[in-house]
Amino acid sequence: MLRHLMNVLDFSVEELENLLSLAEEIYDRPGEFSDACHRKKLATCFYEPSTRTRLSFDSAMLNLGGQVLGFSSADSSSAAKGESVADTIRVISSYADICAMRHPKEGAPYVASLHSRIPVINAGDGGHNHPTQTLTDLMTIRKLKGGFSGLTIGLCGDLKFGRTVHSLVEAMVRYPDVHFIMISPDELRIPDYLRRDILDRNLIDYKEVGILEDVMPKLDLLYMTRVQRERFFNEEDYIRLKDSFILDSKKMKLARGDMLVLHPLPRVNEIATEVDDDPRAVYFKQAEFGVYVRMALILTLLKEMDR
Ligand code: CP
Repeated sequence: MLRHLMNVLDFSVEELENLLSLAEEIYDRPGEFSDACHRKKLATCFYEPSTRTRLSFDSAMLNLGGQVLGFSSADSSSAAKGESVADTIRVISSYADICAMRHPKEGAPYVASLHSRIPVINAGDGGHNHPTQTLTDLMTIRKLKGGFSGLTIGLCGDLKFGRTVHSLVEAMVRYPDVHFIMISPDELRIPDYLRRDILDRNLIDYKEVGILEDVMPKLDLLYMTRVQRERFFNEEDYIRLKDSFILDSKKMKLARGDMLVLHPLPRVNEIATEVDDDPRAVYFKQAEFGVYVRMALILTLLKEMDR
């Protein structure tokens, strides 16, 4: 059965738990999976820059004994000559067994999925969704916090354009007793649809604040985000807002001893490098987990094809 991943909500809670358990199994015993995708090929079609997502997909497929092909910018593909995403995926369906696609336009990987004969994974579409980052975040939280329920999560920075925040909130509200504190400048508050259709509709406890220091002692997790320069319409606004929140050692002193700091990376200026040595800073570990969760995802979607 052909199955794609556009949004983390494409997986039920039970399917998500199975996927995260598989990722942990692979993390614990990678050798057992080293040949699981022998003779299978992953196409990474990236129309927008990436370090972690593209290379962790490559690493995931290579770890599974498979092979990778693809392109890393629109300029180096026939998109530069005007080829549509629909035509591109029709062709790639003959070259690979599964495809991970990143695109600056919201919905482009979905359009690809409509014309594809192989599973398409949304590797980030504009300011919309980034489901494999969410899977990475969920694996990090589950592995390091033991689960999701009962957590108070601070989301800090660019909550308007930060697609990883939107996907994480949508995934987390499916678990009981989850609380959010949204920390952002006024101009970068969460989008209305998230407030109305996800948080309010699910009766989720949340508040929106403008000062990080005030809420640090209340948090189990602090999810920092970069101000997304590439999504701003004018540079002046970006420059004015980019350093609204900078997490440093002084602010970390206000936090609990077991509070974890996550960040999808890349970091620009929002976490001072002095925080990196704090054992509560787990963002590089988080990036490492991304390989294992993508291995689990590739295995799961390819297995579905055989059903
Ligand atoms: N977190 C993330 O998506 O990083 P890249 O943009 O480097 O892929």
